[in-house]
Amino acid sequence: MEAIDPVRFLSNRSSGKQGYAIASALAAFGAKVTLVSGPTALNDPANVSTVRVESAREMLEACQSALPADVFIGVAAVADWRPASTAPQKLKLKGQAVVPPLELVENPDILATFAKAGPSRPRLVIGFAAETQEIEGHGEAKRVKKSCDWIVANDVSGDVMGGNHNAVTLISDGVNEVWSHTTKDIIAHKLAAKIADFFA
Ligand code: CTP
Repeated sequence: MEAIDPVRFLSNRSSGKQGYAIASALAAFGAKVTLVSGPTALNDPANVSTVRVESAREMLEACQSALPADVFIGVAAVADWRPASTAPQKLKLKGQAVVPPLELVENPDILATFAKAGPSRPRLVIGFAAETQEIEGHGEAKRVKKSCDWIVANDVSGDVMGGNHNAVTLISDGVNEVWSHTTKDIIAHKLAAKIADFFA
């Protein structure tokens, strides 16, 4: 969520349900989990350390504070852009000669920052790809572009954002695994099981 002024903001349709389900599933597998969450209506999951933030820059900082970690999973629908400046007071309609322009600047890419090689890189870096077309092609392109190990590509053209169900393709280096339409809890459990296997 990116503030325009004290009462207005830019956001998107993501509910956070898939990320919260993954945090819970990993905790159930015995992992020590830090969940860095943007604004959602969801309750903090049990047995997980939840850090609430608003903006992408706050999210990046909170994630960096949680290092070192074995795994990083970027599930949040991070805003790609934020207003170039946030007005300290509510922008008033009266007295404006023209509609005020909204200048945007690019946010940091949290996933790409974590996936960069370096001593603090988690051993396994997983991203999500929210796509409305060419799901697997765009997902693999994102995996390579952002240097992450796995991408969970999902088709968000239906009611995935906000809903309780999802259908995804897990893309690792050259291998695609389709997990067809099911609950976000089951997708979370499958991903947590894959991660547990990776570290076994
Ligand atoms: N992501 C991130 N920081 C950003 C934007 C995205 O960490 N500023 C992460 C998301 O959490 C997700 C992955 O990057 O794990 C892909 O996000 P997605 O919205 O699918 O793609 P974008 O990178 O925003 O690219 P595009 O809008 O072109 O699809």
